[in-house]
Amino acid sequence: MNIATPIQILLVEDEDFDVARVRNTVKLFASRIRIADVVSNGNPALDLLNSKPDKYDIVILDFQISGGLRGEELIQRIKELDPLVQIIVITKMTINMTDLEFASSLLKAGAFWYCTKYPGNIEEYVYQPTDFILSIFNAFEKKRLEKQRLRSDKRLMKNIEALLDAKAILGESKPMQQLKEAIEKYARSDANILVMGASGTGKELVAWNIHLKSKRRFESFVPINCGGIPQGLVESELFGYEKGSFTGASAPKLGLFEVANNGTVFLDEVSELPPQAQVKLLRVLQEGEIEKIGRKSSVAVNVRLIAATNKDLSKEVNEGRFREDLYYRLSVVPLELVPLRQRGEDILLLFDHFLTYFSADLNIPVPEVDPKAREILLNYKWPGNVRELRNVVQRLVLDSEGRISAKDVSHPMILRSPLYKEELASLKEFGNGQVLPLREMERIFRTNYFRYVRSISSSDSNAAEKLGLAPSNFFRMCKELGLKP
Ligand SMILES: Nc1ncnc2c1ncn2[C@@H]1O[C@H](COP(=O)(O)OP(=O)(O)OP(=O)(O)O)[C@@H](O)[C@H]1O
Ligand SMILES: [Mg+2]
Repeated sequence: MNIATPIQILLVEDEDFDVARVRNTVKLFASRIRIADVVSNGNPALDLLNSKPDKYDIVILDFQISGGLRGEELIQRIKELDPLVQIIVITKMTINMTDLEFASSLLKAGAFWYCTKYPGNIEEYVYQPTDFILSIFNAFEKKRLEKQRLRSDKRLMKNIEALLDAKAILGESKPMQQLKEAIEKYARSDANILVMGASGTGKELVAWNIHLKSKRRFESFVPINCGGIPQGLVESELFGYEKGSFTGASAPKLGLFEVANNGTVFLDEVSELPPQAQVKLLRVLQEGEIEKIGRKSSVAVNVRLIAATNKDLSKEVNEGRFREDLYYRLSVVPLELVPLRQRGEDILLLFDHFLTYFSADLNIPVPEVDPKAREILLNYKWPGNVRELRNVVQRLVLDSEGRISAKDVSHPMILRSPLYKEELASLKEFGNGQVLPLREMERIFRTNYFRYVRSISSSDSNAAEKLGLAPSNFFRMCKELGLKP
């Protein structure tokens, strides 16, 4: 408690007799408690709180003031204006003081404490002085704690904002705008999310953003790479074990789901989970409980799950490698990340972003980029998506001498696969420059491809085998294409 500045009180009381009694009740503690202002009803009280924010610590409020704003409504309005200010209500004896409902309605409206005034024949005090004074001190202490909490919440919030800044999802293209809208929409819910997308499209980044925008943002975000844990260890990593549950278990081990309790678990490459772990995961999702190795009873955990995959999980289900029930549980909200080459000008936006980032990192001026170089970047296929783009920029910045030319970006160490445009051009040649119906195009492709495979095969059965076809099907298809086997 700050002894230097006394507790500042605003008294809302319309009877002089009671104003005098309140003043007298706190008089003994004049150095610690100060009645800063007195008003006779709600409106001037709100005006003062409005014009002098932070001035008052406590409002002492008579419940039965005549006219104007009063009662629970006034309490609510004061708390809306200044949530930290504490309110002590004093009421006339005439109110049924044993009425618990009355008391709880005051507390519900936001009051800190309430007391019934002494009868009028007690002229010195409005209430038993030590109780009255103690309640003022307690109210002040509560305000101090709430203020502290607000400050540390604000500090935490700043950290979260800094993280969100560092993990910003860049992109203005339509699919990226839709993705960002979906993140805003679903982050606040506790729904399980399945993030799908090819390698390097930003799945982990999306998971981070969902976590940082969720109500779990102050708790942990625990990424688990299901493909990176040796099969035999998946269960103990995820769910932990008890001491002595198997040879070598000399101490109990916390599973990652326990570490993440109240936070978010990010299950990366979820398709790689072995079947036994899939069963246990399903149980976590259904019951909110984990089964630790070597423990009879289960342990309750509360986690939000975000899973990611670069495989087509529904195909994994169809082919029996992934449990269907688990798939439905995980994909309550499916989010699909499109490949970078479908994001148009975002390629250049990301390129410039990483260029600034890595130049600052190396403490060099941002290199100029020739328009021709930009065109090449824009037309490149980007099989490794944003991760590849990021690496490409890093290499370019390391090698750059103030300028990035078309030659620089075309270097095989920079862009590794053929240009997308070139690939498209070869498709154009395919139909002699014409756009053909798909069926026709497929026929041309099959004919050429079958010819080619036969030319490098020892026999037709060998060619069929290479193509993954039964020989009888291969013969039939060759006949249909006019290629006599
Ligand atoms: N839209 C974006 N804006 C800014 N940076 C991005 C964006 N998408 C991805 N990145 C960056 O690209 C890199 C790869 O992203 P991330 O690791 O999230 O991809 P991923 O889909 O999880 O890849 P993988 O399948 O290889 O695990 C990271 O450095 C990430 O910060
Ligand atoms: Mg990843």
